Amino acid sequence: MVVTAASEVVIRPITVADIEQFCEVTTAVMRERRYLAFVEGFPLDEAAAFVARNLRLGNPHWVADDRGRIVGWCDIRRETIPVYAHAGHLGMGVLRDYRGRGIGERLLRASIDAARAAGFERIELSVYSRNERAAALYRKVGFAHEGTRVRGKKLDGEYDDVHMMALLL
Ligand SMILES: CC(C)(COP(=O)(O)OP(=O)(O)OC[C@H]1O[C@@H](n2cnc3c(N)ncnc32)[C@H](O)[C@@H]1OP(=O)(O)O)[C@@H](O)C(=O)NCCC(=O)NCCS
Repeated sequence: MVVTAASEVVIRPITVADIEQFCEVTTAVMRERRYLAFVEGFPLDEAAAFVARNLRLGNPHWVADDRGRIVGWCDIRRETIPVYAHAGHLGMGVLRDYRGRGIGERLLRASIDAARAAGFERIELSVYSRNERAAALYRKVGFAHEGTRVRGKKLDGEYDDVHMMALLL
């Protein structure tokens, strides 16, 4: 597959017009079955509700746009319980053919900046111990390891440890 220079990929906030492609991109990464908690895609109506909610609440939700093709995303969902609502939970992914070219880092930094501007004080995430690439990216932008849920993930009879990481803004 031919992909454009990473510098031509635009990092921008998601819009309702992106919902269908957002659903496709998340589904593609989920179906790799290695990186995310869900291993099947969400139905379109659930993806649409997710995006609509983020837009309504002002949650950071950015996409990487390669000339009209959505190739990655990063979202930070504010916690709803009042005592935790200064924090948000981060999720992200980039299509396989676009990885390793700086797009994930640009998505992550844009989302963190948006979270800071929106008054978030803390961003949390969990990452599987086998996912060294993602953990390296999170460390690079300042996330700290806060703990590990040993054998916290089990898929197809195989365990993985789940690292909790957080960034204080
Ligand atoms: C994790 C992910 C979002 C990173 O996005 P990316 O575009 O591939 O990453 P980038 O090219 O921006 O790389 C940024 C940093 O990530 C780390 N990184 C990237 N590729 C790496 C690799 N193959 N091995 C180790 N670290 C790597 C490095 O720290 C890199 O910085 P550097 O280039 O200065 O060394 C992407 O690889 C992905 O979608 N993976 C599958 C889904 C996933 O893991 N989501 C997160 C679940 S917690």
